[in-house]
Amino acid sequence: MSERKPLRRRRGTRAFVLAATLGLLAVVYAGFAPATRSLAENTEQITQGKDLFATNCASCHGLGGEGLAEEGVPALTNVGAAAVEFQVSTGRMPAPNTVSQPVPRENTFTADEVAAMAAYVASLGTGPGIPNEDQYLPSGLTAEEIAEGGELFRTNCSACHNFKGSGGALPNGVTAPNLQETSPQHVWEAMRTGPGQMPVFASGAIPDADVKKIVAYLEQVNAQPSAGFNLGGLGPVSEGLWAWIAGIGVLVLFAIWITTKGARA
Ligand code: HEC
Ligand code: HEC
Repeated sequence: MSERKPLRRRRGTRAFVLAATLGLLAVVYAGFAPATRSLAENTEQITQGKDLFATNCASCHGLGGEGLAEEGVPALTNVGAAAVEFQVSTGRMPAPNTVSQPVPRENTFTADEVAAMAAYVASLGTGPGIPNEDQYLPSGLTAEEIAEGGELFRTNCSACHNFKGSGGALPNGVTAPNLQETSPQHVWEAMRTGPGQMPVFASGAIPDADVKKIVAYLEQVNAQPSAGFNLGGLGPVSEGLWAWIAGIGVLVLFAIWITTKGARA
């Protein structure tokens, strides 16, 4: 009889631990689970987005996102939410005009407003949605996988963006931007939506796993201090110049040494 009590108490403790663990799991899950919106909330968001779009975007893109082909304004009927998130949160849109390449400026919309316009544009047709972190954030990649990212970047991107992602000039006054400050989300979105002169890299060609490798490669080259002296990262010109100055210096010292030796002899 005296042995039963501790046993029951132990069971009680176990039940309590189990309940507590389940409770904790539920809390953790609620924290991580994607926020699901009700249909009503969705409709409300799209309506809000349509209003914002009418005020800020429709003058060029048309209220139904049909675009203005003769002015070079693209239709937004099948660009998806990702294109809006990319263009507006990098400050490219609303563009100041229809002629020059839209350059990144300060985004004056709140995250909710951007999401609302993205939801409205997404409702017009198809196209990539706004990605989740697990689609673009690299974590725990091996050195080999990051090297693969470098390989992918050199094959697909460096022709325009330079091998370190520091950007470059393209014909017709177009610039391929520096990618050193670009967020991983915007790398994903740019690849999937192909802004301006940039081609689209669809998931069939470069799956999300490879986008993460590219992101990891870009993070690595940006974190890397340049080997030896930092010569301003200006490339072969400045490095060649320094080699030349140092080389000449050595020759001059050598010449002085020979002359003093010769004078003594
Ligand atoms: C044909 C040239 C070209 C190629 C190839 C190319 N890009 Fe681009 N990329 C551009 C141009 C031009 C822009 C600027 C678009 C604009 O006008 O808004 C751009 C913009 C971007 C941006 C937005 C940067 C920012 O901070 O706003 C990212 C990110 C990007 N490219 C990544 C890539 C990656 C990754 C690849 C390879 C998978 C790639 N690009 C291949 C030309 C190119
Ligand atoms: C002054 C005219 C103008 C205004 C206003 C404007 N846009 Fe644009 N938009 C353009 C032009 C021109 C392009 C093509 C840019 C390029 O070639 O890089 C474009 C491109 C885009 C794209 C990329 C489409 C694609 O094919 O990937 C999106 C998305 C977009 N705009 C959304 C918006 C949104 C959202 C607003 C309002 C917040 C807006 N734009 C306001 C002129 C405008």
